[in-house]
Amino acid sequence: MCGIVGYIGTKDAREIIINGLKRLEYRGYDSAGIALQNCENGDFNMYKDKGRVAHLESITDFSYSSCLGIGHTRWATHGVPNQENSHPQTSNTGRFFIVHNGVIDNYKELITSHLNDSVFSSETDTEVIAHLIERYSYTMSVNEAIRKTMSLLEGSYALAIIDTYNPYRLYACKNKSPLLIGVSDDGVIVASDVMACVGYSDRFVPLEDKTFVEIDGAKYHIRDIIGKEVVHKERPIDVDYFNIEKGEFSHFMLKEIMEQPAALRTIIGTYFNDDGSVRVNRNILDAIRTSDRLYIIAAGTSMNAGYVGKELFETLAEIPTEVHIASEFAYNMPLLSDNPLFIFISQSGETADLRAVLVNIKAKGYRSLTITNVKTSTLAREADHYVEIMAGPEIAVASTKAYTAQIAILSILAYGLESHRMDLRKELSKVAISIENIIDRRDYIEALVEEYLTKRNCFYIGRGIDYYGCLEASLKLKEISYIQTEGFAAGELKHGTIALIEEGTPVIAIISQRAIAKNTRSNLNEVKSRGAKTLVISTKSVHQSEDQIVVDDVYESFSPILTVIPAQFIAYYAALHRGYDIDKPRNLAKSVTVE
Ligand code: F6R
Repeated sequence: MCGIVGYIGTKDAREIIINGLKRLEYRGYDSAGIALQNCENGDFNMYKDKGRVAHLESITDFSYSSCLGIGHTRWATHGVPNQENSHPQTSNTGRFFIVHNGVIDNYKELITSHLNDSVFSSETDTEVIAHLIERYSYTMSVNEAIRKTMSLLEGSYALAIIDTYNPYRLYACKNKSPLLIGVSDDGVIVASDVMACVGYSDRFVPLEDKTFVEIDGAKYHIRDIIGKEVVHKERPIDVDYFNIEKGEFSHFMLKEIMEQPAALRTIIGTYFNDDGSVRVNRNILDAIRTSDRLYIIAAGTSMNAGYVGKELFETLAEIPTEVHIASEFAYNMPLLSDNPLFIFISQSGETADLRAVLVNIKAKGYRSLTITNVKTSTLAREADHYVEIMAGPEIAVASTKAYTAQIAILSILAYGLESHRMDLRKELSKVAISIENIIDRRDYIEALVEEYLTKRNCFYIGRGIDYYGCLEASLKLKEISYIQTEGFAAGELKHGTIALIEEGTPVIAIISQRAIAKNTRSNLNEVKSRGAKTLVISTKSVHQSEDQIVVDDVYESFSPILTVIPAQFIAYYAALHRGYDIDKPRNLAKSVTVE
């Protein structure tokens, strides 16, 4: 996590870095900092503090011009969020400024073996890097000192580095954590995400692991750790500025919930031919078809989409599918089938837990497919194949449109393999309209939230695919409203968890599956008779007159794509009424680039 931005060129470094940090705040927002060169007198100034980028902006001196700087927005890993632990961190004498995204696993060993006479002013692992670079710079060039330091670091890092002795250079390097450079005729940006470059650069170059960049004005050299030039390709930046702004919406989350019908229509337009057949690279469909088992690897919301994917692959394409928590799978790999295909689902395409698995299975020679919203991301670049979910930039930390887009893509992949039992294109178009119908009734859902979500805890219950929907619904509610919420298999309640139900506990049931609707209703009655305040989200064909939220019927295996919409609104309004920061909930970050 953490976002880094650096700039060198003829434009105002401060504006580019502060705006870039605002756009990267989704990566962490415990503290923020910036180091700038004052072009007028050559001095370097550093501003940093606990708190958001807006606060950093308010403490930054805007009275001088600056053409070189680095900035950081932090998600704390080592040391509490305070001024000392904020980045930039500096070397012993203050010669080097650095900003860091990642975790250095061996920083304590490095202190003992290389820096035991150093005085540290923070608790961060990052400061060790600054001290090492300075130490080596006494006996070698800065370029070599950075590469030498890289060779000692174990763990993940994306670094931007300023040498105050040479204000005409900006340095950057990376391993595991994402980093790219944005290029334009007036200068070069170093950033964790291309979003920081939109409007300032027209091309970008994603950097590979263990590479090092030396930037001199608008010229740059990318080298590997031993100093050999790396062949690279500049790519156009095609992100629309409008897509990364909130516009008329009060929150990105609300905007992104509302964008779901449009995202589905983009997917339909991209992945279907005029005759209704799917338009997906044959090699991808063949890779799925020829595997004897699919292993879906994901985290959080993407994993919840993966569960629906399992249902789709098993019912539509009859391929056995397992879903695994990436962070568990990375270090506890189960026995695999003879011919597996690994499917990585990740909105950001940067999640470190997934990357650990990808590196591992690639080394073993297994095939991989990444389903992601960011086609230039690490997971997209490093897997054998990738499919883009076309949801458009998702800025709110709580994922909404990426979830529904992931399910739509999974349904298209599964459908591409089967002998068409239904018209999926038509079905997805129906879903888009049905989502619009729910959006139109959001005020009603807001009123339900006021009436029902009055306690510190809540349960979502469902069976089968509705249970998978409950997992996502509960994740949404807990992460932004801080109501302790569990998604539970309805039938499992009575084996222990029902003990938690007391007078007024909100229990929300999702009911969309004909075969098991009655069973879920029985479980609902069980909690009702123990005092629970129940609310039902059901589909038309299984609804009962007292159900509060009734959505349209869709092909049963992807009903979570529709039942999740009221749940997203429930989470949104519950957080809104509690006055929380909806787009940036506490302790979280959107792109989780540490394991
Ligand atoms: C929750 C949420 C997270 C992410 C998870 C994986 O709203 O967004 O649970 O789904 O951190 O991130 P990606 O999909 O980027 O791999």
